[in-house]
Amino acid sequence: MKNGSLIIRVPGKLMIAGEYAVLSSGYPAIVTAVNRYLTVKISTGSKFKISDSSKISKVEWMLKSNGDVIGLDDKKHSFIKAAITVAIQYLREEGVGVSPFHIEIQNELKDIISGQKYGLGSSAACVVGIISAILAYHGIEIEKEEFLLFKLSCIAHLKAQGNGSGADIAASVYGGWISYYRYDAEWLTHRLNVTNLNLHDLVSMSWPCLSISRITLPARISFMVGWTKHSVRTSHLVNKIEAFQKENKKEYEIFLEQSKAAVMEFIRACDLNSGERILKAIHKNRTALQYLEDITGLQLETKEIIELCRIAEKYGSGKFSGAGGGDCGIAFLIDKEKIEDLKQEWLKSGIIPLELQSSMLGAAQIV
Ligand code: PMV
Ligand code: MG
Repeated sequence: MKNGSLIIRVPGKLMIAGEYAVLSSGYPAIVTAVNRYLTVKISTGSKFKISDSSKISKVEWMLKSNGDVIGLDDKKHSFIKAAITVAIQYLREEGVGVSPFHIEIQNELKDIISGQKYGLGSSAACVVGIISAILAYHGIEIEKEEFLLFKLSCIAHLKAQGNGSGADIAASVYGGWISYYRYDAEWLTHRLNVTNLNLHDLVSMSWPCLSISRITLPARISFMVGWTKHSVRTSHLVNKIEAFQKENKKEYEIFLEQSKAAVMEFIRACDLNSGERILKAIHKNRTALQYLEDITGLQLETKEIIELCRIAEKYGSGKFSGAGGGDCGIAFLIDKEKIEDLKQEWLKSGIIPLELQSSMLGAAQIV
């Protein structure tokens, strides 16, 4: 596209089960896309610029003839810079010329008033949104290129964050409910840092251990999301858990197996269309995460999360979603009529029910 503009919409995500364990190859997680979105508008401009709805100022950056992005050096732009760099590198390898464009990001994945994050995967959605927008703007039909988007986004995310399973990226790209096994992170890091592979070759290869499959929830099950009003830095907790894992392999292995058993139970519950089994699986996963807390000494269940789960368990079962330590928790219940009671009890305890549902749509061009 030489002139004009287009808009990409990307759903946020909620981790449902398998947190932390999914960082290890061979251990699954369940994740769903949710109906809150990040939108990215890309349009023709005279210079490269980017703006974010929550920060009024526009930031300019430059592209060197070798494809390097100059500017965007503020830490808050690290995901944006990595996403732009990867998208442009890919286009250059494909022989596509790149001329200046403006990018405008609108992020519904944060609390509108405070700007605090809910834990709905805004950095992953941002990376997916920017890569999708730049590729679509240059003529690539992104709806047909989900696997390409997923892989490029993982590469950019890994470069910016250095950790992260990619489950959030899978939800943002594909939409719906997903059972996810991470790629072998050492393999990918080695390919990126040590070998001279270009992006084209890297995304064309099959990535060891990676598996993304759709699942369908049992008909008789509902879920609710509650926000604790506290944000946490996932990468900080993940670094601590990874350090623990290196020193305490045996204990961590026990956690991994407990988590896997819970997630497999969740998948089986979906296959058998059994709401009751979903409740059991969520409970099992909570127990595994409590064991992780015990062995690491980290506080993953805050007092708000404990309260959220206590109420959830009166109606079904609950756990934190994501890294814990704040953000959101989830409740699953079979009796739809009880949803309102659950919400009221959460509100009384200072937990904010979020009106979230799954989004069956993944990243897509809407205009
Ligand atoms: O806090 P969230 O919603 O970004 O989820 C983190 C989940 C972890 O398994 C702890 C990390 C990851 O990248 O999967
Ligand atoms: Mg989180």
